Amino acid sequence: SSPLPIISQEEVTRHRSLKDGVWVTYQGGVYDITEFVSIHPGGEKIMMAAGGAIEPFWSLYAVHNQEHVLEILSEYKIGEL
Ligand code: HEM
Repeated sequence: SSPLPIISQEEVTRHRSLKDGVWVTYQGGVYDITEFVSIHPGGEKIMMAAGGAIEPFWSLYAVHNQEHVLEILSEYKIGEL
């Protein structure tokens, strides 16, 4: 499989709305979670992380500290920082 593209933080920051797309970063990976926003079990809170890192939020909401959450996230990977 071909490697995923390198994406700048600036490009990620431009994607923080449903209209422009919702991108987040996690441990150096970039994820397009636009299609996940409406099915997130925690609702619209997920938009707080739009365009940036999800780590600060996941340390507050420990419900994400489970393997199955990382499996969901991995489906949306589009690149590396
Ligand atoms: C719950 C995924 C970002 C707040 C959940 C659950 C999943 C999930 C799968 C259910 C976990 C379970 O009960 O087993 C994700 C993914 C995210 C993300 C993939 C990022 C791409 C966020 C952010 C916040 C947040 C940024 C807060 C700012 C919550 C809350 C719940 C939750 C409060 C608990 C909902 C409840 O049980 O009532 N999330 N989440 N999430 N999430 Fe997220």
